[in-house]
Amino acid sequence: MGQRQAGVRLLTVVDGIEIVDVPLDKRSTLERILEESFEGWYLRHSKRILREVETVRAARYSGEPIGLVMLKTLEEGVGYVYYVAVAKAHRAKGVASLLLKDALRLFKAVGAVEAFASVEKDNLPSERLFAAEGFVRTNLVEVSRRHGTLRALNMYRLMVVVPGEVLLHRAID
Ligand SMILES: CC(C)(COP(=O)(O)OP(=O)(O)OC[C@H]1O[C@@H](n2cnc3c(N)ncnc32)[C@H](O)[C@@H]1OP(=O)(O)O)[C@@H](O)C(=O)NCCC(=O)NCCS
Repeated sequence: MGQRQAGVRLLTVVDGIEIVDVPLDKRSTLERILEESFEGWYLRHSKRILREVETVRAARYSGEPIGLVMLKTLEEGVGYVYYVAVAKAHRAKGVASLLLKDALRLFKAVGAVEAFASVEKDNLPSERLFAAEGFVRTNLVEVSRRHGTLRALNMYRLMVVVPGEVLLHRAID
């Protein structure tokens, strides 16, 4: 998942919704989706990650960005869904599901064998979204058992799991 330098690249089209890869210099147009999706620390952090993260994909409808997902490789074989957000007017229509399915295909294409995501404990739409794609709750003890304590701690550091969030996991087959 290296950073793409060319223009916005079209990846898939489903029911008129296009999923495109968004390079660094085009990402500021997505900030308004974050502004209506997050507040406080999360809004500031998501805007910073939008500018830095290796992969951002956007869902577009009639050329307008309506959703986005930010993706990162934590270490070889391990993908992380940093943020997913959909513009309020386009929620509950399957846009986030489409973005997440696309992200899992991308992880698989680059050789990932597992994926993580973290969500706020009381964010039901978000936890349901990930559950529908096979993600289940995990924790530091479980991740340490599979990867060893040092690697698990390093992954936690990269994922920036903060108090009040739960970590989700699924294998990619
Ligand atoms: C969470 C979010 C991304 C979901 O986007 P969406 O496009 O509305 O989600 P989808 O329409 O693809 O729905 C996917 C699943 O999520 C669940 N879901 C979505 N909205 C829901 C709601 N308001 N209440 C309960 N479950 C909901 C459903 O289970 C749905 O599956 P279903 O279609 O089989 O019922 C969106 O609500 C959002 O942007 N929220 C603010 C940002 C955020 O919290 N992001 C997640 C943490 S990074």
